[in-house]
Amino acid sequence: APFRIFSESKSAKEFLQRRGQPLVVKADGLAAGKGVVVPRSLEEAIAAVEEVMEKRAFGDAGDRVVLEEILVGEEASFIGITDGEMVVPFASSQDHKAAFDGDQGPNTGGMGAYSPAPIVDAEDLGERIGSEVMDPVVRGMEKEGREKYRGALYAGLMILGGEPQVLEYNCRFGDPETQPIFFRMKSDLFPLLLAAAEGDLEGHFVEWDPRPAVCVVLCSEGYPGSYPKGREISGLEEAGEMEDVFVFHAGTARAGGKVVTSGGRVLGVTARGETLSKAIERAYEACAKIHFEGVHYRRDIGRKGLARLAGSGPRR
Ligand code: GLY
Repeated sequence: APFRIFSESKSAKEFLQRRGQPLVVKADGLAAGKGVVVPRSLEEAIAAVEEVMEKRAFGDAGDRVVLEEILVGEEASFIGITDGEMVVPFASSQDHKAAFDGDQGPNTGGMGAYSPAPIVDAEDLGERIGSEVMDPVVRGMEKEGREKYRGALYAGLMILGGEPQVLEYNCRFGDPETQPIFFRMKSDLFPLLLAAAEGDLEGHFVEWDPRPAVCVVLCSEGYPGSYPKGREISGLEEAGEMEDVFVFHAGTARAGGKVVTSGGRVLGVTARGETLSKAIERAYEACAKIHFEGVHYRRDIGRKGLARLAGSGPRR
């Protein structure tokens, strides 16, 4: 999206006033996935600039702010691995960035994800994303004379009317997209990583379990704001023993023989099912077995996928 960068809060706010409409406000630096505000009004946009630059909510990432046009559509993640020449695509996925159901509330690092994402597959966008989004960035880096980039390549997309628009590139796998994606990966990851590192991905591909997988992120009370640590977690074994369920640990620690919370996003409860709806059901069944004080999680992970499969996907 078109954007402008500002290093003074005053000029950023004046620009917003002149535009007379909200723009996405991004802290320019690392902010644990939380430095992006998609405001609903001009006032919210101005408050976000103040939060980032004046109140320094994200520390040094508030030295500069990026104001960017709001892209509308439905988000999707496209992840692959590259050896610097070619990209082997992974299965499509969709993250849920907002903290609360119905995409309400502040942005987070990701509250849940599912794979495959019907928004990509139903519209047969995978190939286009490969040739229009993934390959060009690899070619672009090469053209800039950079050493070949070998590793994970992640494109965060916004899709509207079948048209993919790029929100971001990352040189890592996505969290929590990786949990459902890897849960569906039938072939071995290691040869793929080795081939990428050795610059020899030609002929490699990934075999996928056709069954959808869903990951629900269990969070600490207060996340994405400040949160307590050290709360005892129960039910991990019971959930982990369920068939086709895997509980990924993220913000946990061991303390005195117990497993306790030690981060904002605590666990990625991931399940497979014959259908997306069954995978969702199983993931929430597993979530219900796990408890820690103040635990919160979204109850609508995968709902957009279900709507799209039913032919009534949101067209935001
Ligand atoms: N889930 C978003 C990310 O990993 O960037």
